[in-house]
Amino acid sequence: MDAPNVVNLSPKIRVRNLNKVFGEPPSEVVALEDVSLDVQENEFVTLVGASGCGKSTLLRIVGGLEYHTGGEIVAAGKTVAGPGADRAMVFQHYSLYPWLNVIENIRFSRGLQASRKDLSSVDVEVASGRADALLNLMGLPSMAKAFPNQLSGGMQQRVAIARALMGRPEILLMDEPFGALDAQTREVMHDLILHVFKLEKPTILFVTHDVEEAIYLGQRVVLMAPRPGRIDTIYKVPLPTARHQDMKHSREFLEMKKEILERIRETSGMKTDIELLERLSRTAAET
Ligand SMILES: Nc1ncnc2c1ncn2[C@@H]1O[C@H](COP(=O)(O)OP(=O)(O)OP(=O)(O)O)[C@@H](O)[C@H]1O
Ligand SMILES: [Mg+2]
Repeated sequence: MDAPNVVNLSPKIRVRNLNKVFGEPPSEVVALEDVSLDVQENEFVTLVGASGCGKSTLLRIVGGLEYHTGGEIVAAGKTVAGPGADRAMVFQHYSLYPWLNVIENIRFSRGLQASRKDLSSVDVEVASGRADALLNLMGLPSMAKAFPNQLSGGMQQRVAIARALMGRPEILLMDEPFGALDAQTREVMHDLILHVFKLEKPTILFVTHDVEEAIYLGQRVVLMAPRPGRIDTIYKVPLPTARHQDMKHSREFLEMKKEILERIRETSGMKTDIELLERLSRTAAET
């Protein structure tokens, strides 16, 4: 939770009493119930929680890709009523255009498309320079002319991130962006996204299943719980802003990981299921 003496009147993302119900009674699903969360400017907040607790729904609502059924949501100073160039999204499955090469994919940003009418030749040149700079930042300078199907998963996701950054979004919304990558590539991507965070200073809301990833990247970890989807606990990560892989072995890190994993188990109902299974096994053994 925010310290009580910190007063910030303009968080970059402000979610108030958000509700989202899918479907109609009697088969309605309460995906989000009374969710309130402030994310400050240039803050990196990670979202974890059992499958189905509404993480993606919350992110999609902030991104303007989904309507909410109650509450209020303000992003970059405006009430969210749909997608906008101030928010960019990166998903688990790389959403590159297969018929465009890498540099064309990066240049083809939604933010730029939105303001294309007003672009002068100088703007186009600046955009071109930025696309090259982002390609370098992602460590892919020799891949400019390659097509997505010639790239590894990690490379494709780096291009997707570069494309998301192209329009200088104030807010970056990431839904399990590294979920499909192997462990080694994921570690590289973690340090890369932290570097981007330091350099470009976006505000980041990042969904993951991986508690270690959530702690390593986040300044705060928001734990959500299912049925109905809600915020259960907000943890402030007790690590310096500049992260290093070695910190994953620190006492603070491991204690927080244990605490969050335990709480996810409690809120997901997995504990109860295991107890039930044990009882059933005992009964079966006795008969
Ligand atoms: N379009 C939809 N129509 C009906 N129900 C939906 C829809 N999208 C999501 N839901 C339901 O809303 C709830 C929250 O889903 P959501 O995808 O946000 O969960 P999640 O936390 O992202 O899960 P996961 O970790 O598995 O990705 C789930 O019960 C899901 O079945
Ligand atoms: Mg999801």
